[in-house]
Amino acid sequence: MTNISRRTFLTGAAALCGTTFLPRSTLADTALPVLRAAPSTAQLAPAGYPATPVWAYATEGAGVIPGPEIRVTAGERVRHRLVNDLPQPTAVHWHGIRISNAMDGAAPLTQAPVPPGESFDYDFVAPDPGTYWYHSHDRGFEQVARGLAGPLIVEDNDPWLGEPSAATRELTLVLDDWLLDADAAIVEDRWDDLHAAAHDGRMGNTVTVNGRAYPDLDMRPGERVRLRLINTATARVMPLVMPGLSSRLIALDGHPVPPRDVETILLGPAQRADVVMDMPLDPETETALLLDPGNGEWVDVAAFVATGEPLAPVEGEVRPLPAWSTLPVPDLSDPQREVLLMEGGAMRGMLETRYRGEVMDFRKLASNGMVWAFNGVAHGMDAPMFRTALGRTVHLEMTNRSVFPHAIHLHGHHFEVLTRSGALNTPGDVRDTVLIGADETLEIAFVADNPGQWMLHCHMLSHQASGMMGWFEVA
Ligand code: C2O
Ligand code: CU
Repeated sequence: MTNISRRTFLTGAAALCGTTFLPRSTLADTALPVLRAAPSTAQLAPAGYPATPVWAYATEGAGVIPGPEIRVTAGERVRHRLVNDLPQPTAVHWHGIRISNAMDGAAPLTQAPVPPGESFDYDFVAPDPGTYWYHSHDRGFEQVARGLAGPLIVEDNDPWLGEPSAATRELTLVLDDWLLDADAAIVEDRWDDLHAAAHDGRMGNTVTVNGRAYPDLDMRPGERVRLRLINTATARVMPLVMPGLSSRLIALDGHPVPPRDVETILLGPAQRADVVMDMPLDPETETALLLDPGNGEWVDVAAFVATGEPLAPVEGEVRPLPAWSTLPVPDLSDPQREVLLMEGGAMRGMLETRYRGEVMDFRKLASNGMVWAFNGVAHGMDAPMFRTALGRTVHLEMTNRSVFPHAIHLHGHHFEVLTRSGALNTPGDVRDTVLIGADETLEIAFVADNPGQWMLHCHMLSHQASGMMGWFEVA
């Protein structure tokens, strides 16, 4: 409820100023609903600090952090005209949506970036229910860090909310991490910082939930709520706990999992988790969402505040979400086997790596802004990492030879986690982004059922920009 009333307020405030925000394209040809990317401001830091200049998305009025929630039902179209009012080219990627290739927004592979002042029409079907997000996919390490990200929710055709032993309400919580200076302005002079890129990326110092530092989230005592948690940070892996709320995981990256108790929800950049929580009946009980910023100390990032009349607690085990009917099951009898070897970064580096057709040592690579490689190639955009036939099952063995974790994302597909050697992944989960720890090996499999050229990269966005980037082709 909190973020809905806030957005209504912002819209109302813009209307009071008498500002009109009409699509700049010809008004006659009833254009798609606009999604505008433009500079804006947001009160990210606590009250008393100045508002932060950001880049943000808007469907009407001024841009908001996070971007406006886009909501459709599975099988429906998402239709938006991106209008670029930024000082840089941009493109929108619809993260996790198994989309047609031309609509994937993966500049420069699937479309040319949209220059300032121009627009691009996105129109695609969202086939699978779940929790997703959209974000800039050009200079993401800067544009996402400046605020260009928002939630995209695909509702199921079959009802779940309000059904027996399901939740009665849902709440989208967009978690982000900002690098702010003492005046709450975004630190702007270190976008290409190779030192951060060679470590764990551009780490922030301010965590926000729905664009605010430490918000109060109103809850009824006794109510069962579905939280849609989204990590839109460019680098921060977020270990989260919600003590006393008997949290149960029901979906990962949009895809349902059999409900299971979770103590720590580990949310890497770009990952989502749907979690059911039960508010205690006693309104005096203090409950909160806690995050480990990396030093083992749990800090509150949002408070769940009991308000209003208690609701009768929902009885019984949490109702599972309806299964997807749309995802083909990998055929593991004779898959196409591929490997993904991750090398580079501080402390380990790599011996020789190809960049733009030339073999270079680590020093020369670094002078070209590259400190990471996939299969011995840094930022390999010239040729695909592999090609596969439409409908073929691909078995991908990933090995992380660096000392940092990575969040590996495949565009256009969801994959099944088959095995793990470390602690970050659970076999059987179906995801679009997977965390892989230092020296971990992981096997995944997916059916290449979506034709086109699909990016495969690390979602720590400064790792992506400094080498952990490639693509595969399905034809
Ligand atoms: Cu969410 Cu290629 O990204
Ligand atoms: Cu990485």
